[in-house]
Amino acid sequence: MTVIGTPETPHATRVLLMGSGELGKEVAIELMRLGVEVIAADRYAGAPAMQVAHRSLVLDMLDAEALRAAIDEVRPHLIVPEIEALATDVLVEVEREGVATVIPTARATRLTMDREGIRRLAAEELGLPTSPYRFVDTRDELVAAVAELGTPCVVKPVMSSSGKGQSVVREAADAGSAWDYALAGGRAQKARLIVEAFVEFDYEITQLTVRHVDGVTFLEPIGHVQEDGDYRESWQPHPMTAAARDRAREIADAVTSALGGHGVFGVELFVRGDEVLFNEVSPRPHDTGLVTVASQRLSEFALHARAILGLPVADAVETAPSASCAVLGEGSGVPIFGGVEQALAVPETDLRLFGKPRVEGRRRIAVTVARGDDVEVALDRARAAANALTVELA
Ligand SMILES: Nc1ncnc2c1ncn2[C@@H]1O[C@H](COP(=O)(O)OP(=O)(O)OP(=O)(O)O)[C@@H](O)[C@H]1O
Ligand SMILES: [Mg+2]
Repeated sequence: MTVIGTPETPHATRVLLMGSGELGKEVAIELMRLGVEVIAADRYAGAPAMQVAHRSLVLDMLDAEALRAAIDEVRPHLIVPEIEALATDVLVEVEREGVATVIPTARATRLTMDREGIRRLAAEELGLPTSPYRFVDTRDELVAAVAELGTPCVVKPVMSSSGKGQSVVREAADAGSAWDYALAGGRAQKARLIVEAFVEFDYEITQLTVRHVDGVTFLEPIGHVQEDGDYRESWQPHPMTAAARDRAREIADAVTSALGGHGVFGVELFVRGDEVLFNEVSPRPHDTGLVTVASQRLSEFALHARAILGLPVADAVETAPSASCAVLGEGSGVPIFGGVEQALAVPETDLRLFGKPRVEGRRRIAVTVARGDDVEVALDRARAAANALTVELA
């Protein structure tokens, strides 16, 4: 039975959100709607989820001691990761000691923080289809792996996200520059990379999968386009053949069952005809799933909140054709948005301005979403709304 107390009293149900970006902000809002006390953590002050949480903590979440101290201070019932870059050994420890429940499980956070953990689980333990791959630690090993796999192939640091340090090697001679680029973009000091054969997919989808108290619920497939390692547009539902759709669910079921626990998972899949290949999985809501704030009665964030609290979600699959369009800020400074009234004058649109305190380089700072009679209409509307927005960096 789920019992929810009252925030900021000794009876509060406390959630420690590890990572406070735009996805965490939506999760925080959904948890607060259910009367949960939310403590938002990140490595910088004023992060989006911190702006809506009861309180916030600024810490280096890769620092095991700092993370453990934060957990001991907050005494959360649930620890809800929003990012991969965490001292996951500490999460394993607090789960083992029964100090808090880690969402979805400590093992899931550990395996998915590193491309090697999740790839070996999916391909070698579960036997799921993936692109052919090699792991390499040196420039010479990279050159050999490129020769074995052939070109084009994709090189990624095992510890990285949002396309950082990732490049496509089109000719064997480019392996050296891919090595240099990966080293500059990876999160870890050590130079471990995955080299994957390039998959000429027809399309890629995110198969949102909810593990909850009553079982497993698959949401309609989300199509998306990626550019420079980040998603630009997504839409739901993406049309699939019956065979591909079944296969996508089978793969999502296998990998999320192996990771276990409760919550939303974003299973990234490449589709070629009826063939489906596993790419990677987020054991939490997925950025391409921002579209669900328009398409579903319960967004992926609301579903995550419900699932992790042990509440039912099973009737939540109905989908209206919808799309989302990312809005980027480029340069340096504090975002100031204009054209918001023009954006929202586009029929059936909505938006989220994330409230990111600063842009350095290129960052996603807002998203538009729209419904339509079909996903093409929805996408046109989401684009029109995004184009109407102006961004100035002050
Ligand atoms: N082997 C591959 N063949 C073809 N395209 C690929 C391959 N690997 C990755 N891509 C493309 O690059 C995109 C990003 O790669 P991937 O999802 O592995 O890393 P990431 O996006 O950096 O990780 P995260 O999703 O955690 O930010 C994919 O969505 C896909 O469009
Ligand atoms: Mg990805």
